[in-house]
Amino acid sequence: MKRVLVATGGGDCPGLNAVMRGIVKRASQEKDWEVVGSINAYDGVLKEPTEIMVLDDKTVAGIHKDGGTIIGTTNKGGPFAWPYKNKDGVWEAVDRSDEMVRKLQYLGVDAVISIGGDGSQRISQQLYEKGLNIIGVPKTIDNDLSATDFTFGFQTAVQIATEAVDRLVTTAASHNRVLVLEVMGRYAGWIALHAAIAGGAEVCLIPEIPYDIEKVVKRLNDRYNKGKGNAIVVIAEGAIPKGGSLLSEVSDEVGYENLRLGGVAHKLVRDLKSIGFEADMRETVLGHLQRGGTPTAYDRILATQFGVKAFEMVLNEEYGQMVAYRHPNIISVPFKEAIDRPNFVDPNCDMVKTAKGVGISFGD
Ligand code: F6P
Repeated sequence: MKRVLVATGGGDCPGLNAVMRGIVKRASQEKDWEVVGSINAYDGVLKEPTEIMVLDDKTVAGIHKDGGTIIGTTNKGGPFAWPYKNKDGVWEAVDRSDEMVRKLQYLGVDAVISIGGDGSQRISQQLYEKGLNIIGVPKTIDNDLSATDFTFGFQTAVQIATEAVDRLVTTAASHNRVLVLEVMGRYAGWIALHAAIAGGAEVCLIPEIPYDIEKVVKRLNDRYNKGKGNAIVVIAEGAIPKGGSLLSEVSDEVGYENLRLGGVAHKLVRDLKSIGFEADMRETVLGHLQRGGTPTAYDRILATQFGVKAFEMVLNEEYGQMVAYRHPNIISVPFKEAIDRPNFVDPNCDMVKTAKGVGISFGD
């Protein structure tokens, strides 16, 4: 019997369970393969005793429609930077990658499928260089991985953000308010851009197009002058005013901590007030609602395709590669290509042009 171990790493994402179901259903068509899952990313492998669960047809039945991940996840560290408290109670990182590779051999694991975002793909590349038979599956609601047209989870996040805009529109109209919606996306503006178009927002602020607050005011005033006493602003959590520093360029740790403060909507409202913009304003931070719950049909399908392809890559021994979607095909790309550069919104892309074409201001 051969064994493939699956791990889900980083933030959870709608569609993770559908990927695992795809892997298991495809593997069960082969006589000699067993699928196991490591609990909480690689924690399950490194723990003593190990925490590994068998994933079979029964375990994965019907899970394609469930959010989260049945094997759990964590975004703390990873085998190359394992967090531990030293004798003085201070957190440090230790490299446990060699130990992990040995443990995988001991557990009789022939191949690993790691489902994760850019951080996980980087770890996979390093493990591959250590000789591990490993395949990657891209996962992120942020859609910021460049080697694939889309990641599963993104469309679900956009759907939830769009529904939030729809709900804000009616309350904004009733109260004549400017309502600011902060959405996730890390250092990329994809969720904000898509939700702003789908929801019909007036302003969309994204990290890739630093905004001029005066231009934002101008767009809002133009609307007020046309007799509309309300407006919706969608702001990505990584958005910055002109002259500000991109969080991705500060340092990953600082950027990540700042994103978690959920402060950009608040800052925008405060700055608008400070320059004399008098509308009644409120802010909403959508947060983890964008990550929880059932995936859309699109994400279930993409995740299932990724799962089936990942197992087929194991059969073909295409190690050191990540599954990717290049419309209309599901292909494999080397990890190196996948982690080479992030996928940010090009300010001159057609999607931005479309948004501008329907009157959405980016404050540029
Ligand atoms: O990468 C997915 C994501 O949800 C980002 O959009 C967000 O910035 C980050 O994770 C939040 O991370 P955490 O769940 O650790 O707060």
